[in-house]
Amino acid sequence: MNSNNVQQSMYERAVEVLRVNDRGHYTVPTSGLYPFQWNWDSCLVSIGQQHIDEARAWAEMKTLFEHQWDDGMVPHIVFHEMDDGYFPGPEVWSTGRKIPTTGITQPPVAGFAALRLFDRAKDTELANKEAAELLVKIDRWHEWFYANRDPHGTGLVALIHPWESGRDNSVDWDIALDRVPTEGLEPYQRRDLQHASADHRPTAAQYDRYIWLVQHFRSLGWDNSVLHDASPFKVVDPGFNAILIRSCADIAELASRLGREDIAQRNKERAAFGLNALETLWSNSLQQYLCYDREGRELVDSASVGGLIPVIAALPENRSAAVAQRIDELSKSAKYLVPSHDPTDERYDSKRYWRGPSWLIVNYLIADGLRRAGHIELVQRIESSSLELINQSGFAEYYDPNTGEPCGGSTFTWTAAMVMEFISNAA
Ligand code: GLC
Repeated sequence: MNSNNVQQSMYERAVEVLRVNDRGHYTVPTSGLYPFQWNWDSCLVSIGQQHIDEARAWAEMKTLFEHQWDDGMVPHIVFHEMDDGYFPGPEVWSTGRKIPTTGITQPPVAGFAALRLFDRAKDTELANKEAAELLVKIDRWHEWFYANRDPHGTGLVALIHPWESGRDNSVDWDIALDRVPTEGLEPYQRRDLQHASADHRPTAAQYDRYIWLVQHFRSLGWDNSVLHDASPFKVVDPGFNAILIRSCADIAELASRLGREDIAQRNKERAAFGLNALETLWSNSLQQYLCYDREGRELVDSASVGGLIPVIAALPENRSAAVAQRIDELSKSAKYLVPSHDPTDERYDSKRYWRGPSWLIVNYLIADGLRRAGHIELVQRIESSSLELINQSGFAEYYDPNTGEPCGGSTFTWTAAMVMEFISNAA
């Protein structure tokens, strides 16, 4: 097959993955391991769905936002239909919602995705209607973030559970997670290990602490006005904050186009304030951004991809150039870009989830930022590395950056959505 035919066949397989995981008004990340609707998966998947069916793409986001909490939070999982194959299920979270959801959130890519859908819409009437409704809800979510996760007005929001980051078991959380106690932990049985290899997943010690935090927040009635201060785990993630900053800027743009100057103005201000504060997370020695442990009051010495994702925001030129340089350096120790942790660090683990493996959604976000900053050659390297992984190993959840082996779950929806984007960008 020539390369056009290879891409054509990959694209068709991607469409098929989206179809298999489509549940009508939402998509599951993959059946078995993740049988519900995940927040940032859905938003990124809608970008892929737009290539097939615009109305379906808007419906994906709309369904997610139908489950926004009264306080403005958009939960990390919506449990549309019961499924015993996943732990912790609704009974553990016990958030009291009619259609159950978890009580924590996930990276706010919704603003970014909404502008992208709007920009490329062919059905402009539908886009105007859907975007106008979503805009108001996304603005409320952003407001929720700054009020509840940055109660002291620093400009940066903290995560109160590693799962909120979307990078569940990153090295970034190790020190802060060690501080989380395990006394009073109710007995439980993991279900993820029935679907994926234990070597590819978080450890038992990490899992205990994930569950302890859930129990702790539940005992506080999921009252977000107290959870931040009451959590022993409070970490400021530069990647997460940059996604929020970019989404603020993107919905400011969307709001201006839809004549909502009020929403535009406050999101512009949020983005500017956040961008300024992001600078406090820059590490001169590592030449990338780092997490800040708000409880331990120090920057976390961990060269993870969380410190490179900020290129998605409108960084000063010297910072985006330094991030590009870092990625170029990483390509000397990893065959496939972009490893989720620096392979030269002793804590790197090429197959363990967010402690080394490459993820296509991260590649997409980073490539988008690098493109805007003008680093086109690097973007092309990231995109072709991503497509090589698919060609070699199929639509996996994540990949070993040294060997390209598929890891975690298979037939993964957001991986497929990103493939559709990479192929369309290359065309
Ligand atoms: C894992 C990932 C998270 C993702 C979820 C569903 O928990 O770490 O980022 O949203 O799976 O795919």
